[in-house]
Amino acid sequence: MWEQLQANGEVSYEEEPESNLGVGERADCLAFSRFCRFDGLVLDVGCGPQAWPAYYAVHTPETRFVGVDPLAGDRAADYVQVRALAEYLPFGDGRFDQVVFATTLDHFVDPERALTEGIRVLRPGDAVSVWIGEKQPDTPPPAESSDWYEGLVKPEGAEDVFHVKRLDLSEVESLLSAVGLEVLERESHRIDDFRANHFFRLAARGGP
Ligand SMILES: C[S@@+](CC[C@H](N)C(=O)[O-])C[C@H]1O[C@@H](n2cnc3c(N)ncnc32)[C@H](O)[C@@H]1O
Repeated sequence: MWEQLQANGEVSYEEEPESNLGVGERADCLAFSRFCRFDGLVLDVGCGPQAWPAYYAVHTPETRFVGVDPLAGDRAADYVQVRALAEYLPFGDGRFDQVVFATTLDHFVDPERALTEGIRVLRPGDAVSVWIGEKQPDTPPPAESSDWYEGLVKPEGAEDVFHVKRLDLSEVESLLSAVGLEVLERESHRIDDFRANHFFRLAARGGP
C-alpha cells in the first residue's frame, strides 16, 4: 500500500509540485516557518524531494537543517538530506534541537512510531513542530482534475491516492497524547469551509 502511495506522490511532486510540496512563495509555508522559530540543528522528517522546502524561509543564522525522506538523494538539495524512513530514524538519541513534521504524519504507515522516533532523537526539553493539513471527509471533489491525477491508483487500505490515513483534530490529539507529547502552542488557519492547516509546538511530557 505504502509503495503505491509513494509512487502516486512522486507523480504529483513531478507534475504539480506547487500544490503538493512546500515550494514557491506560499503564505501557509511562511506562516509555518514563523511558527517554528527555527534555530540550531533541525531535523525535518519527510522533508520531500525539493532542494529547499519553502517553510525553511525564516530561521536564525545558526540554523542547520537535516532532512529525512525516502525520496532524498534523487535530486540535488541545498542542505543535508538522508534517505530513510520516519519510523526508523538513523540517528542517535538526543542529537537535534528541533524536530519537524510538515504535512507528513498522514503519509506514514505508523505515525505513532514516527513521533516516538522524533522524540528519541530530540535533545530533552526541546520542541517538536507539527503541521497537519485537515480536510473534511465531505469535501466536494474539484470540478475538473488533471489526466495525471485520474491515472493514479488508490491501493487497498489507504484513505485516498496519497494518504495512509488522514487525521482529524481529535485523532491528532489522541496521537500526541499516546506518545506523551504536550501542546505548548497551536495555531489554526482556515482555508475554506472544508480545509484548515493546524500547527502544533510540542514538548515531551516529563522533559526538564
Ligand atoms: C506531502 S509530502 C511533504 C513534503 C515536505 N514536508 C513538504 O511539505 O514539502 C509527504 C512526504 O512524506 C514522505 N514520506 C512518506 N512516507 C515516509 C516515511 N515513512 N518516512 C519519511 N518520509 C516519508 C514522502 O516521500 C513525501 O516527501
